[in-house]
Amino acid sequence: MLKAENLVKIYETGFVRKRRITAVDNVSFDVKEGEVASLVGESGSGKTTTAKIVLRLLPPTSGSVSFKGRDVWKELKTREQLVDYWRKVHAVFQDPYASYNPFYTIDRVLKQALRLVGVDRNSEMERKLIEEALNYVGLSPEDVLGKYPHQLSGGQRQRIMIARCWLLKPNLIIADEPVSMIDASMRGAIIKLFMNLRDDYRTSIVFITHDLGLAYYVSDKIMVMFKGRIVDIGAPDEVVKHPQHEYTRKLLESVPTLYRKWRWV
Ligand SMILES: Nc1ncnc2c1ncn2[C@@H]1O[C@H](COP(=O)(O)OP(=O)(O)O)[C@@H](O)[C@H]1O
Ligand SMILES: [Mg+2]
Repeated sequence: MLKAENLVKIYETGFVRKRRITAVDNVSFDVKEGEVASLVGESGSGKTTTAKIVLRLLPPTSGSVSFKGRDVWKELKTREQLVDYWRKVHAVFQDPYASYNPFYTIDRVLKQALRLVGVDRNSEMERKLIEEALNYVGLSPEDVLGKYPHQLSGGQRQRIMIARCWLLKPNLIIADEPVSMIDASMRGAIIKLFMNLRDDYRTSIVFITHDLGLAYYVSDKIMVMFKGRIVDIGAPDEVVKHPQHEYTRKLLESVPTLYRKWRWV
């Protein structure tokens, strides 16, 4: 469904003395329908840059991304095509607060999603779908509707982002560290919601995390990223039992404790 081929991103920084940072270095992978593929690596390894290229937010220096056979960077041009792409390939970011406009109540992100799928403003259908979406993510409408983003917890804000996914029914969710800024006690429940979407709607997920233990328990495929490259790729058991790269072995040293942390997800 999604194919990234030979992605390279070189950032140029500095005005006087130019510095070139190769953030993503020849990265290729694909994601199939209903597949959970994790991109795992430490901070600075190039995960977010890869995600932004796939989301058509940041152009690659070279390489290509195709979604359902169409080249995302070359073939999608009009506003309509882009909006359609971002509905089908939907982003959930690390900091849910940043995904909201602080001046509007949270109802707006759900209503905007409904506009994209053609539900009329202030219709009975709108009310019913918002209620259903909130139920799906374990929120009660009375607790959250009419509230401003700062009046909700990080976990509630991220749940609403998942409710938005439920309304849009994307083919693929790119979730960039979706629980790393959430209170630890709520992380498992939020992860579970992503897995429910996959199970209920065969939504594919690219799950970006620095937590190999978490990736192990939720993924069909793990891609270990190190200094801009994918150094290990395969089924979780394969990667864990036969790591190809020294860096993966290093990451694995911390997995026994992570096993306890995530196994109930
Ligand atoms: N806008 C930018 N300009 C220059 N360098 C950047 C920019 N964004 C990220 N980088 C650099 O690219 C590398 C990869 O960053 P990033 O993709 O954010 O990694 P990760 O998400 O794995 O932490 C890092 O060295 C980072 O400092
Ligand atoms: Mg990042």
